[in-house]
Amino acid sequence: MAVPLTVVVLAAGGGTRMRSKTMKVLHPIGGRSMIGHVLAAVRETSPQRVIAVVGHQREQVGPHIAELMPEAVLAVQQQQHGTGHAVRIALEAVDRVEGTVLVAYGDTPLLRGESLAAFAADHEAAQRAVSILSGLVPDPTGYGRVVRDAEGEVVAIVEQKDASPEQREIREINSGILALDAAFLSEAIHRLSNDNAGGEYYLTDLVGLARDAGLHVGAFRLDDVRQTEGANDRVQLAALGAELNRRILERWMREGVTVVDPATTWIDADVELARDVTVLPGTQLLGTTTVGEDAVVGPDTTLADCEIGAGARVVRAHGQLAVIGAGATVGPFAYLRPGTRLGADGKIGTFVETKNAEIGDGAKVPHLSYVGDAEIGEGTNIGAGTIVANYDGVAKHRTVVGRHARTGSNNTFVAPVTIGDGAATGGGTVVRGTVPPGALAVSAGPMRVIDRWALERRDGTAQADAARAALEAVDGEGA
Ligand code: UD1
Ligand code: CA
Repeated sequence: MAVPLTVVVLAAGGGTRMRSKTMKVLHPIGGRSMIGHVLAAVRETSPQRVIAVVGHQREQVGPHIAELMPEAVLAVQQQQHGTGHAVRIALEAVDRVEGTVLVAYGDTPLLRGESLAAFAADHEAAQRAVSILSGLVPDPTGYGRVVRDAEGEVVAIVEQKDASPEQREIREINSGILALDAAFLSEAIHRLSNDNAGGEYYLTDLVGLARDAGLHVGAFRLDDVRQTEGANDRVQLAALGAELNRRILERWMREGVTVVDPATTWIDADVELARDVTVLPGTQLLGTTTVGEDAVVGPDTTLADCEIGAGARVVRAHGQLAVIGAGATVGPFAYLRPGTRLGADGKIGTFVETKNAEIGDGAKVPHLSYVGDAEIGEGTNIGAGTIVANYDGVAKHRTVVGRHARTGSNNTFVAPVTIGDGAATGGGTVVRGTVPPGALAVSAGPMRVIDRWALERRDGTAQADAARAALEAVDGEGA
C-alpha cells in the first residue's frame, strides 16, 4: 500500500534580490516559470494533496499556481516568519495530513520528480520522523549545515547564522527539501520557537525535536545537488537556465537528435523532438514546439509553439503558432505569424511574412511577399513580391486562391479577393474582387514610351547628361 503523500510548496518569500515587479517564482526559465518546473516535478510523485504557501504578491502567484495545478490548496502566509511558520500555515489550510509530508521550495527549477519520489520512498522505508534531502557542496555558505555525531547519525540542522566556526566548515548542506512523518509534524510544528539568530521559526528545528523524542532522523544525499538549487537573483537565474538547457539538450541528443552547437541552441522543457531531427546553430525551440523526424531546423531560427512536420526544412526563420507540413521548406528569412499553416511539400521562401494563412500542399510563396488572412490552394504558385492587402484601414478581409493557380510577380491582392482554380494573373496586377477559374487577370495598362523625356524634363542633371550621351553615341553610329 502506498503511503499517502502531501507536498507543501513554499513560495511566500519576497525574492527582493530579483529586483523585479515579477515575483521570483514566476520568472521564466526553460519555457516555464520557476514554480512551474517545481509543480511538474511534484505532479510526478502522484501526491494525494499539494498545498502551496503564497504571501508576497499572492495576487500574481496564486492564480498562476491555480492555472497550472487547479487541485492545489493555496495557503496564505501574510508575513514571513520562517519556513516553520510557513508549513504551520500550510497545515492549517487543510483538515489533517496523513502519511508523508514533503516540503519543497518554489524556486528550484532543476528539481526532478524522480528525485522527490526516491527521497520519499527512502524516508518511508527507513521509517524516519524527519528526513533531510542533503548534498555535499564545495561552498556551503548560506545553507543550513547537516550536523552529525561521532557515529555519523544526523543530530541537527544548524543555520548559517547560528552555526559555530567548526559547524560552518561542514560541507553537507540541507537542500531545504524535507520529508516528514505527518503525525509527528502535526504535533511538533506547534513546538517550534523563534529563539534564534534569525528570529524565525525554523522548520529545520524539527530534526532536533524528533531526536529528543527518540524518533528516527536521517539524510538522503542527492549526488546531483544542483536539482535543489534556487535562483535568488538574475545572475543565478541565468546560470540555472544554462544548466537546465544543457540537461535538456543532453536528453534530446541521447534520444537521437543532432544538436550541432549546444552552446548556441536553446530548447524549452516542453518541446518535443523526433529522432534524427537536426538542430543547427543559433536555434531556439520554445514553448510547446514539436519537430518531426528528419526535419532540419536552423541555423538562426526561433520557433515558439510551432509544429514542424517530418523532413521539413526551416532556415533562418522566426515563427510563432505556425504549423509546417511534412517535407515543406521555410526561409531563409521568413516570418511565420500565428495561424500560418503550410501544407506538405509547400514553400514559404525568402523575405516572406505570413499570418493566419493556410497554404496548401505543394503550394509556394517563394519570394518577398506578405500573405495574411488568406487561403492558398494546393499546387498554387504565388509570384515574387505579392502583397495580400488584407486590411483596408478599418477591417480585415479574406483572400482565397484556388488550386494550381499561377499569379504573376508584384501583384497586390486587395482583399476580399477570390482567385479560382487554375487561374492566372499578369505581372503587376492589382487584383480586386473575383478572378474566375482558369481566367487570366491583368490590370497593368500597356506600356507608354515618351521619347527624350529626361532630356527635356530633367535638363542639367546627371540623368539627362547620361541619356544625351547615349543618344548621341547611337546617332554617331548611325552617321
Ligand atoms: C532554508 C533552510 C536551510 C537550507 C536552505 C536551502 C530553514 C530554517 N532553513 O534557509 O537549512 O539550507 O533553505 O535553500 O528552513 N519561505 C516562506 N515563508 C517564510 C520563509 C520562507 O514561504 O516565512 C519560503 C521562501 O519563499 C523560500 C523558502 O521558503 O522559497 C526558503 O526560504 P529562505 O528564506 O530562502 O530559506 P533560507 O534562509 O535560505
Ligand atoms: Ca531565511
